[in-house]
Amino acid sequence: MTDMRATGFERARELAADEGPGTETQPVENSREPIGMVLEIGGSGSQIALDLQRLNECGLDTDPSVALAGRVGSQVKIRVGNCWLLASVRQQKQDNATPGGILATVDFLGEGQQERLTGRIHNFRRGVTGYPIPGAYIYPATSADLRQIYASDGRSSIEIGNVYPTNDIRAGLYVDALLGKHFALLGSTGTGKSTSASLILHRICDHAPEAHIVMIDPHGEYGPAFRHSGMVFDVRNLQMPYWLMNFEAHCEVFVTNRGPDRQEDVEVLSKCL
Ligand SMILES: Nc1ncnc2c1ncn2[C@@H]1O[C@H](COP(=O)(O)OP(=O)(O)OP(=O)(O)O)[C@@H](O)[C@H]1O
Ligand SMILES: [Mg+2]
Repeated sequence: MTDMRATGFERARELAADEGPGTETQPVENSREPIGMVLEIGGSGSQIALDLQRLNECGLDTDPSVALAGRVGSQVKIRVGNCWLLASVRQQKQDNATPGGILATVDFLGEGQQERLTGRIHNFRRGVTGYPIPGAYIYPATSADLRQIYASDGRSSIEIGNVYPTNDIRAGLYVDALLGKHFALLGSTGTGKSTSASLILHRICDHAPEAHIVMIDPHGEYGPAFRHSGMVFDVRNLQMPYWLMNFEAHCEVFVTNRGPDRQEDVEVLSKCL
């Protein structure tokens, strides 16, 4: 048993039956018992301590969301009054001061209220209005929680996959909200940004077949992905009026001489135009 558990986890387990979020469909034990506690709070995230033994116990759970609770990329929840604050685990490191302890950084996603009778999270919204205090317990977010949080509100949307780590909760994007703002696909190299961009554009095209989308692809990497559903223009087939280019652009295209005669060629081109 770790120091962290000795200083609060046993008490938390006793309290868990009263304040836990379990429903009749959830694996009760693991989702009701804390896996860690809040150490430090910042504006958009927090540093938390996780209990290795609890993570191992959760790892055997049949609910994939509980099984991966506390791992990088997983989602956890923290009680704040009558609300649950949802957070995503960004990074982990070993806590040298506590045997079996893990320090992790989480980013806050949003908050939702708990239904009194069923324990389910409802009215989930992005952003945080109430912060937890250091010492608050961290619980695994269950698949039932994620289903509530990522439920569609009926707006027109496209489906792009499943919410990690579940394999049956659809991940959708609201098309109007997405295209009405600037957005970016971010990730380390090789994490699937280009693949995701192609998928999103394909889904938007399926959703709105009359829509016209112009993609500027300076590295020519998307051509094969849209061979059947789009028109690919490159130097071999692109036709455009010469007046679309200014004189500088004409020189870039037509004057290939880089030596001392270049200025002479530029003057000839200017007379020709
Ligand atoms: N959802 C996925 N499941 C499995 N493999 C995937 C998935 N998405 C992408 N990949 C594979 O991962 C590899 C990298 O994908 P991709 O080129 O889209 O990444 P990227 O983030 O755009 O990389 P880069 O930063 O180099 O541009 C490709 O081989 C791709 O087939
Ligand atoms: Mg890419």
